[in-house]
Amino acid sequence: MVKKKEHIAVAMSLGIILAMTTLSNLTTDQSALLAFKARVVDYQSVLTNIWSISYPICTWIGISCGSRHQRVTALNLSDIGLGGTIPPHLGNLTFLVSLDVAHNNFHGHLPNELGQLRRLRFIRFGFNK
Ligand SMILES: *[C@@H]1O[C@H](CO)[C@@H](O)[C@H](O)[C@H]1NC(C)=O
Ligand SMILES: *[C@@H]1O[C@H](CO)[C@@H](O)[C@H](O)[C@H]1NC(C)=O
Ligand SMILES: *[C@@H]1O[C@H](CO)[C@@H](O)[C@H](O)[C@H]1NC(C)=O
Repeated sequence: MVKKKEHIAVAMSLGIILAMTTLSNLTTDQSALLAFKARVVDYQSVLTNIWSISYPICTWIGISCGSRHQRVTALNLSDIGLGGTIPPHLGNLTFLVSLDVAHNNFHGHLPNELGQLRRLRFIRFGFNK
């Protein structure tokens, strides 16, 4: 009896994980990055034209995608004159491993949502405010 309940619980968790995995895709990454772009201050207009749905997201400046899942795995926005606060939407980049926002003009806190990123191994954010 107990075993059966455990099996049901495991099956339900797997179902939830599967649903979460299938619901997130490259479009999720794109929304997260466009939300990021809309919320930061881009003093030198580095992102303005290039971070656009006219181009494949994996070719956007500062973005690297993994070959296996074709999802955003690294974001390197160091030293490109960005300001404002780092928006929580980066927490939607499920496959992110590396985040480099050093040498900009960001202030405030890193968003708690980054804690959702189970693959994140590397963050560099020095030389900001
Ligand atoms: C990505 O997922 C959304 C639902 O979250 C879906 O509407 C969309 O069609 C998917 N896009 C691709 C390219 O699979
Ligand atoms: C990000 O890019 C800068 C400039 O090209 C480079 O110095 C830095 O090492 C890169 N960061 C990562 C984590 O690769
Ligand atoms: C991404 O994250 C933000 C804030 O954390 C949230 O409000 C939004 O609904 C998320 N978007 C998607 C497409 O998951």
